[in-house]
Amino acid sequence: MIGGLAALGFDTICATPHQKAGQFLPSLDTIDEAHQLVVTQTRTSGVNVSIPLAAENMWDAVFFERFQAKRIPSYDRGSAFLVEFRPAEMPPGVLGHLFRMRTEGKLPVIAHPERYQALWTDKGLLEQMAAQCAMVVDLAAVAGYAGRRQAKVARKWLKQGVAHAVASDSHSRSDIGVAAEGMAWIRKKLGESSLHRLLADHPRRILAGQHPDRSGRLGARVGRTQNSQ
Ligand SMILES: [Fe+2]
Repeated sequence: MIGGLAALGFDTICATPHQKAGQFLPSLDTIDEAHQLVVTQTRTSGVNVSIPLAAENMWDAVFFERFQAKRIPSYDRGSAFLVEFRPAEMPPGVLGHLFRMRTEGKLPVIAHPERYQALWTDKGLLEQMAAQCAMVVDLAAVAGYAGRRQAKVARKWLKQGVAHAVASDSHSRSDIGVAAEGMAWIRKKLGESSLHRLLADHPRRILAGQHPDRSGRLGARVGRTQNSQ
């Protein structure tokens, strides 16, 4: 899988093992061990990519405990962390919590936002979430493999600039071709420079803990968001 992504041009591949209470919750030591093994084997096989460690955190009780303890597994132990929600409904008070995370210097990175039904219809919620968080659309959705509605919104948000970046969400080798199709769609419809922005420039800013739209500090727009709640 890493070789396939490298062949597509990826030079940095963030490993984001699921952290989901009751389903996928390997210990952090086990994850570290597996990560080290992958990094070593990648180096041995001559594939030239870096593989920072992060996690795909489900917004659940474990995530919340970790947030309170300031121990959310983040990208390369930095301030940006990946989080996902259940598709059918947003957690209560989500914007307030996200705002608090921003004021504490964190950058929430929203995994596959096109899956969340509340964002399909609630434009205000979408705009406020995009103002506070990095929105990372799944290339499989862009390619049309994650449902019709998901493809439609993913493509619309890419065109509108609501989506800041794209990611492969690869779980197996068969996902590489799907990611390639998503990239091809972006190249064809939005151009090479957009593809570069979505897969290189913005991801680099996100990994540095900066919101892709701004310098990384809380902007006026976010301030207004909080005041209006
Ligand atoms: Fe996910």
